[in-house]
Amino acid sequence: HSSHDQVSLNAYEWLTKFYHHVLEHTKEGQEAKKYLIDRGVNEETIKKFQLGYAPSNSDLTIDFLHKKSFDSDELVESGLLGATDKQKPYDRFRGRVLFPIRNHLGKTVGFGGRAIHEGNEPKYLNSTDSRLFQKSKLLFNFDLARSEMKKVNQAVLFEGYMDVITADQHGILNGVASLGTSLTEHQAALIKRYVEEVVVSYDGDQAGIEAAIKAADLFHKVGLDVRVATIPENLDPDSYIQKYGGDRFKQEIINQSATYVSFYMQVLKRSYNLSVEAELMNYINAVIEKIATLDRAVDRDHYANELATNYQLSVDTIREEIQTLRQKMT
Ligand code: CTP
Ligand code: MN
Ligand code: MN
Ligand code: MN
Ligand code: MN
Repeated sequence: HSSHDQVSLNAYEWLTKFYHHVLEHTKEGQEAKKYLIDRGVNEETIKKFQLGYAPSNSDLTIDFLHKKSFDSDELVESGLLGATDKQKPYDRFRGRVLFPIRNHLGKTVGFGGRAIHEGNEPKYLNSTDSRLFQKSKLLFNFDLARSEMKKVNQAVLFEGYMDVITADQHGILNGVASLGTSLTEHQAALIKRYVEEVVVSYDGDQAGIEAAIKAADLFHKVGLDVRVATIPENLDPDSYIQKYGGDRFKQEIINQSATYVSFYMQVLKRSYNLSVEAELMNYINAVIEKIATLDRAVDRDHYANELATNYQLSVDTIREEIQTLRQKMT
């Protein structure tokens, strides 16, 4: 097992260099390079993240690996290369801009590849899971973000590679992303080891909001203080930062992000018609249920007060209700 892993690690290291070289120094890579530059990714960032391009003629990749003495059968077996049949291995990422995905030691263990022409499906293609590359356990940019996370005692969770990269280029260095799948408890626990607070900063579309709720619940479950950012104008963090800059993102998105319960209050509101008495009561009860899950008494008190003020209720009744729910929980 481990000798195969070592071969894969070596292959991934060479491939990272190869793809990066193709992007930076060859004619094949020019269009992809322009694609990144047009999207506002600068030279330094391309280098820092070792962004690359897989030539559309996948023989170039295969030839390179052969020259480095890799056995293509083995690479097909480990999922590094695709193959229609045993004879003909090919580069699954051909024609894509590549984002190397590193493990906590900074070693490439997989790639995310983006199509550079609109309409080419899938938009993103990721390496398949293997022993080295487990999407449910890795976080994009975790190796680099970890020290900043610790320093500022806060992590930012983004949806996509481009969000992390653009944020980093604009001075937000504590950003990570899951790898095209929803956040797992394992990933939430990993973040918990470094920070007390996490800001979920997903896209402003419906899919993003729904995914943010799930991520926020998981973070809350592992004991993190959770905030949820809202991005206006249907932008995502990448496009917001490209449009307004990193300082404004920090000040108006990160710093203004809603606390866990406030976010819930906002989101839940959409599911109830609050002008109908019975629905209003259901809404209030749903909020109380959320408040009851908070660990700290000061937090529960804070939101009990807020709810009481907002809906002209007796704070004592709300507190009692919270106590009853908490007794049931244990
Ligand atoms: N993703 C994926 N497969 C897809 C679409 C998305 O794995 N077909 C993952 C990628 O990791 C992507 C993330 O989900 O970065 C977020 O998706 P989306 O918001 O659609 O993409 P963006 O990151 O905004 O990509 P871009 O700005 O390049 O369009
Ligand atoms: Mn170079
Ligand atoms: Mn999205
Ligand atoms: Mn997006
Ligand atoms: Mn985007």
